[in-house]
Amino acid sequence: MSEVVKLERHDEIAIVTVDSPPVNALSAAVRRGIHECVKNAIADPAVKAIVLTCAGRTFIAGADITEFGKPPQPPGLAEVISELENSPKPTIAAIHGTALGGGLEVALGCHFRVAVKEAKLGLPEVKLGLLPGAGGTQRLPRAVGPELAVKMIVGGDPISASEALKQGLIEEIVEDRVQGGIAFAKKVLAEKRLLRKLRDDDSKLKAAKADRSIFTNAVQAMTKKARGLEAPFAAADAVGAAIDLPFDEGLKKEREGFLKLMNGDQSKAQRYAFFSEREAAKIAGVPEGTKPRNVARVAIIGAGTMGGGIAMSFANAGIPVTLIETGEEQLKRGMGVMQKNYEATAARGGIPADAPAKRMGLITGVVGLENVKDADLVIEAVFETMAIKKEVFTALDKYAKPGAVLASNTSYLNIDEIAKSTGRPQDVLGMHFFSPANVMKLCEIVRADKTAPDALTTAVAIARKIAKVPAVVGVCDGFVGNRMLAQRGKQAEKLLFEGALPQQVDAVVTKFGMPMGPFAMGDLAGLDIGWRSRKDRGIKSEIADALCEAGRFGQKTGKGYYKYEAGSRAPMPDPEVEKLIDETLQRLGRKKRVVSDDEILERMMYPMINEGARILEEKIAARPSDIDVIWLYGYGWPIYRGGPMFYADQVGLKHIADRLSFYAKETNDPSLEPAPLLKRLAAEGKTFASLAAANKAA
Ligand code: CAA
Ligand code: NAI
Repeated sequence: MSEVVKLERHDEIAIVTVDSPPVNALSAAVRRGIHECVKNAIADPAVKAIVLTCAGRTFIAGADITEFGKPPQPPGLAEVISELENSPKPTIAAIHGTALGGGLEVALGCHFRVAVKEAKLGLPEVKLGLLPGAGGTQRLPRAVGPELAVKMIVGGDPISASEALKQGLIEEIVEDRVQGGIAFAKKVLAEKRLLRKLRDDDSKLKAAKADRSIFTNAVQAMTKKARGLEAPFAAADAVGAAIDLPFDEGLKKEREGFLKLMNGDQSKAQRYAFFSEREAAKIAGVPEGTKPRNVARVAIIGAGTMGGGIAMSFANAGIPVTLIETGEEQLKRGMGVMQKNYEATAARGGIPADAPAKRMGLITGVVGLENVKDADLVIEAVFETMAIKKEVFTALDKYAKPGAVLASNTSYLNIDEIAKSTGRPQDVLGMHFFSPANVMKLCEIVRADKTAPDALTTAVAIARKIAKVPAVVGVCDGFVGNRMLAQRGKQAEKLLFEGALPQQVDAVVTKFGMPMGPFAMGDLAGLDIGWRSRKDRGIKSEIADALCEAGRFGQKTGKGYYKYEAGSRAPMPDPEVEKLIDETLQRLGRKKRVVSDDEILERMMYPMINEGARILEEKIAARPSDIDVIWLYGYGWPIYRGGPMFYADQVGLKHIADRLSFYAKETNDPSLEPAPLLKRLAAEGKTFASLAAANKAA
């Protein structure tokens, strides 16, 4: 008997149960276990039908991703699936939790599928830069038709059990996976149902065979946002093969596509991102077993851009929110923005029609800080001024209940200093959300000097609960993300003084895969904010200042580094800006030169990586992969490039250190000299990843 798969018999029904925590992934041991148990059940004359199910929190969640890239061990998944499909006795998958990837492929190999109401079924391989590699692209179109199969395989999102029932992916919804599976198996036997092998059933392919536009339209819709990614297109090709080729040839095509992707750079980066995200939720230096505090109600202070978005994120997760403002008018405006936002999403079909009312019902808008009294977590999102933040936290000390976690959403300010304005610094930390806060997934959790371990675990746990990706960072100006971004901003600006244009710089950055370049981003955020702050501090930035003096504040004035047509957010290069830059350079006596795209790319990326190295040295981030998570989920770093530190390892740290030294001299900028950590790793021929491995070993 296998350690991770067991075989039992209930009368004439064999129950094969996979029990391999945490998610019953298809490791070699699980594959072997299923294979053995099914073989024995088939051989046992007392067995008339076989139910495959899982113990623990979920049905099989897919192939064991940790085995990818290692020598394959028998039996292969295809062999296990084929055994279930060719079984002379009915095979039934009884699903709970999530049947994902290889897990759903195993279920598709069974003759029948039943699931509990809460179950989800999907083929998310594209999210790992892969395509389903064990028949999923051939069997799913036969189960649900190519249109939905494209949606599920190319998009990667799972569907609910009720949708699966409607589409014929499962035959029944059951109360209990084991009892329901047994009852269904008995029904199959009593009714002498024909054993349905999906491989032999082309009935749902007919429409798309006759009219290929059914398939091509679905592919077009699902690949619209797949810029730069290889997997969605390869996955679509594999589904196309299900329509065009006989089953076994389709399988062959799928296998080729899968192996090509698995050995490629993109999937390697995407698998790294998957594990990095999960690693980031593990807090370094917190005693094992530290339990998060209970959070039943949240108070958010400030109903502006960020406060509103944060409130929506909690309401979306069903957590009640008290939203606090200084006056009725500000409150009304904030509540109105959220309402409109929800209604627009509902109108697009993004949420059910009754969701706006339900979610707004969870947000209670009030005036006055004394209203924080019932909250277990308070998040402050008022103006970015230290004096105001301190005032708010002093008041929180008075009104918040004992043990409430007190968080600031500040972008740059020192959390240690904010904590000092309370008598309970152990409860204070940063929860730095990103704009728009109801959409962006990142939450930098800022650990201050005195933050208690359980306050920290509370922030991480609640961030995950509201579907954010938390990453713990230390206190410094701009924390991890904005601190690195500032280095890129500095170089972007310098490039304009050397002869590059905003559109050239932005084009290089977007070609790399970022959603936006630094100048388009500046226009979106508003150029006047920086201009005012420079004025206050007596600092000059001639080109940016000249733009603002000409009334070009960015998108909000229809002009900034670009021009914008009324009602449009699309940046258009503006000859007036080129003229303004030329005039500024002439006035300053600066000579233009031709700046190559290669130089732009290096100067956009390498200074950020250098800052990342400093951040690691200072232990502001515990792991290089935490920095990558921050860039993936807070700044739209292309997932197929893994994150800046992962990218640096691919490029080679020696090359990066050499180029930084070169630019430091060439542009007379000592801040570009490679950081000591980068220098050391480069000299030793090591990678940032080697640090993560060393930390784990410590
Ligand atoms: N292989 C190996 N480990 C896995 C895994 C997998 N497929 N899926 C999850 N894990 C691990 C996680 O790394 C995590 O480990 P740690 O606790 O050590 O960090 C643990 O299982 C729990 O995972 P989560 O924290 O993500 O738990 P969750 O409850 O929030 O989510 C889940 C569960 C929905 C299954 C989620 O883990 C998930 O989406 N997993 C990936 C599913 C997937 O992509 N499957 C397809 C794999 S590729 C494939 O199957 C190819 C093929 O066709 C053969
Ligand atoms: P905002 O100006 O849109 O909103 C601030 C709100 O706080 C206003 O509605 C104001 O009336 C309210 N407010 C001020 N003092 C208050 C008090 N004492 N009590 C209750 N409400 C009060 O500002 P925004 O953009 O939402 O920023 C808020 C915080 O979030 C700042 O610290 C900012 O640095 C940070 N942040 C902003 C991001 C952005 O992109 N806008 C991104 C990440 C963080």
